[in-house]
Amino acid sequence: MSEILKNKIAVITGGARGIGRAIATEFLNEGAAVIVLDKFYPDDFKPYTEELTQKGMKITSRTLDITDTKSTEQIFEEIAKEFGRIDILVNNAGITRDKLLIRMTEEDWDSVLSVNLKGAFNTTRVVSKIMARQRYGKIVNISSVVGIRGNAGQANYAASKAGLIGLSKSIAKELASRNVCVNCVAPGFVETDMTAQLTQEQKNAFFNEIPMKRGSKPEEIAGVVTFLA
Ligand code: NAI
Repeated sequence: MSEILKNKIAVITGGARGIGRAIATEFLNEGAAVIVLDKFYPDDFKPYTEELTQKGMKITSRTLDITDTKSTEQIFEEIAKEFGRIDILVNNAGITRDKLLIRMTEEDWDSVLSVNLKGAFNTTRVVSKIMARQRYGKIVNISSVVGIRGNAGQANYAASKAGLIGLSKSIAKELASRNVCVNCVAPGFVETDMTAQLTQEQKNAFFNEIPMKRGSKPEEIAGVVTFLA
């Protein structure tokens, strides 16, 4: 443990499981205080936080649907008040509704764009004011390789993740003068509940494109995000 994030206040959306939880664990190991925001909490989340709290780590959580603009603003302002500042934001919450375009409904499109892209807009807009005021901040957005390369059956998801890259690049330019650094990570296949839904055939199609012929573990993504934070 090098404690490179000692005394930093970090907010992670979608941090209840998967990649977000791995990021939370890594941040805590590096000395940060972590606030997890998620819409759903799996049964093993409470034991997870209790174990970490017993080890002296600072983790708390709130229930939030990041597509709800008003609640998002309210929660971020409450966190800034309670903790005094917000140093790090990781926009990690995301969903898929995979279908070929001809079968994709308006609801499939809207729900994915709403969580993956508008959700990040909601959180980043409120946090950027807080970070600009304190003249310090790190924002890391979790995009996807699919947002760069496209993928059949994921037009909505790919569009949302490509949009997140555009959002990241634009706000990086807007916020740099306030000492707020914005980065985007675009993972390939990662072993989480999200990809557990795929058939072996679909997984093999991904693995065939990857030189190491395997997916990554959430911890491998968390390492990169910690570096950027
Ligand atoms: P996951 O499905 O295991 O976790 C996503 C988390 O986001 C869940 O805890 C879920 O409750 C939360 N969430 C969903 N909608 C929400 C909302 N409206 N408000 C608040 N929280 C919400 O997914 P995973 O695999 O951990 O993915 C995390 C991020 O990484 C996502 O943005 C995903 O698109 C991205 N990603 C995942 C890859 C993979 O292969 N698993 C590859 C590339 C990117």
